[in-house]
Amino acid sequence: MLRLEINSDITGFLQELQDMMNGHASLLAKTQRGDPVYKDSLGWLDTGICAGERELERIEKKAAQIRMRADAFVLIGVGGSNNAARSVIEGVAHRSGCDVIYAGNTLHPRALREMLQKLDGRDFYIDCIAKNFETLEPASAFRGLRQYMDSRYGASAAERVIATGTPGSSLWRLCQEEGYDFFDFPETVGGRYSAVTNVGLLPMAAAGIDVRELVKGANDMQMQLRSLGPQENPAYRYACLRRLFDRHGYHMEMLSSFEPELRYFYQWWKQLFAESEGKDGKGVFPVTGEFSEELHSTGQYIQDGPPAIFETFLDFRQKMDSFVIEPDSRRDGLDYLDGLDFYDINKAAQQATIRAHSEKLPVMTISAEAPDAYNFGQLFYFFEFACALSCGMLGVNPFDQPGVEAYKQRMFKLLGKTK
Ligand code: PA5
Repeated sequence: MLRLEINSDITGFLQELQDMMNGHASLLAKTQRGDPVYKDSLGWLDTGICAGERELERIEKKAAQIRMRADAFVLIGVGGSNNAARSVIEGVAHRSGCDVIYAGNTLHPRALREMLQKLDGRDFYIDCIAKNFETLEPASAFRGLRQYMDSRYGASAAERVIATGTPGSSLWRLCQEEGYDFFDFPETVGGRYSAVTNVGLLPMAAAGIDVRELVKGANDMQMQLRSLGPQENPAYRYACLRRLFDRHGYHMEMLSSFEPELRYFYQWWKQLFAESEGKDGKGVFPVTGEFSEELHSTGQYIQDGPPAIFETFLDFRQKMDSFVIEPDSRRDGLDYLDGLDFYDINKAAQQATIRAHSEKLPVMTISAEAPDAYNFGQLFYFFEFACALSCGMLGVNPFDQPGVEAYKQRMFKLLGKTK
């Protein structure tokens, strides 16, 4: 169960928040039903559409084969095509399965060379995930990896190649010609909303994540968010709070946590909100805070800089790790820590930070039970739904990203691409 708590004193905003929650109630109802304006982008809204029994069986069967025949799995993808899987694979406390190596998210030569070096002497599979195979990072890395595979596996290389893309695309045609296994990137789901589809689930399953639990978490969250009314709906409340703070000049949201395993979840969240909201000169700019480390850098700005940031802490309620500090006879001035658990010290730092920041800026906390597959499923659905609502309130399309084309077209011209 996700919980949303407001940590700072927002008494002065309460009436405005209430008016906002009343004012957008019809948007909530429309989003819950599936807004017909966006019908071609709502495949994620009902988890049964893209992660039903048929899809899960195929994913699990393929993942079992991969885990049996390989010790590494290369996830080729960028943005929405890799962030969700990576955040779970690097974030869950326990998993058993292939090591996942990430490719197709950079154009840097050293990164590519080092990625290939990691594969030397290991058995591996690759999955090229690209909705639009024109995206240069994954498409070019896929070429390099196929060539490397030929040198390693010869004629049997094709057995180890998977692609997840759009039926009828050039990636799909390549798969037909070369005999690669092909999974659908659902046409009605954009990259950043694709966590609970073949896109996110196949790499997670190859890495040994219990994808059924993840889908269950997302589905339970769906039941909640698509049925609860404006006053009880946590995603709606979160979306209204974002808009409220934005209206009052807090144009940046910092997602902060004292949980280092959330590093890649941050990337997913950042992408979800930045690409969905940043349009028509509007939108909250998403930034992240990896604490406690960044308290020693951005912490200063948050506390004393201009009041432009509101903060959302992400927390897990269950104690997952423990490391007790033993007494030491040497005089290091740290005896007050004797017998304390780093778990509690980290939590004390978190509590103190929330208190300090709450005095300067709007702060809220979203907490989940534990960093496991079920709760990642909950978080994905929660933020996707909230993002669609937040964009609706802002009056922008949550599902397109026209601004990304600006650099791409110039880059293609520089590289001599003609069609
Ligand atoms: O959310 C999105 O749509 C984007 O971030 C895409 O996921 C990203 O650009 C990768 O696109 P593609 O899957 O076409 O390579």
